[in-house]
Amino acid sequence: MTTVFRAVSILLGSVAFAALGSPEALSDESLPGDPVAGRVFAERECSDCHDISREGGDYPLNTAPSFLDVATQRSTTGLSLRVFLRSTHRDMPDLILTEREQDDVIAYILSLRSR
Ligand code: HEC
Repeated sequence: MTTVFRAVSILLGSVAFAALGSPEALSDESLPGDPVAGRVFAERECSDCHDISREGGDYPLNTAPSFLDVATQRSTTGLSLRVFLRSTHRDMPDLILTEREQDDVIAYILSLRSR
């Protein structure tokens, strides 16, 4: 009985851990996303309002910064983008992105830095 209980609590513990995400997933050093998939996703979901191109440019919606501008802001990190995408916004719709979509779009935005 004790062994079963232990096994169950270890299992529950790791489920909770997985749901929270490992600390590495939040740091810039280990970006899990795929920037190519992120670009495709951004094209579909974000480009009505944001210029998502590598070159930057006009803002389709003039209050929404281009992804290049977002990427080159000093305050932008993988973590800041994740926090932004998970929070509610005043002027941007509260899009619900899966973990994977967040990772990919964040990887794409940060990839605009290294040109
Ligand atoms: C309907 C228009 C609209 C869509 C669609 C949209 N955004 Fe935005 N977004 C905005 C506006 C407006 C702002 C600026 C105001 C704000 O920060 O809330 C913004 C701000 C942002 C910022 C913050 C930039 C900063 O100041 O650091 C990020 C990051 C961002 N958007 C990412 C995304 C991503 C990723 C998507 C697609 C999944 C997306 N947006 C889709 C309108 C939009």
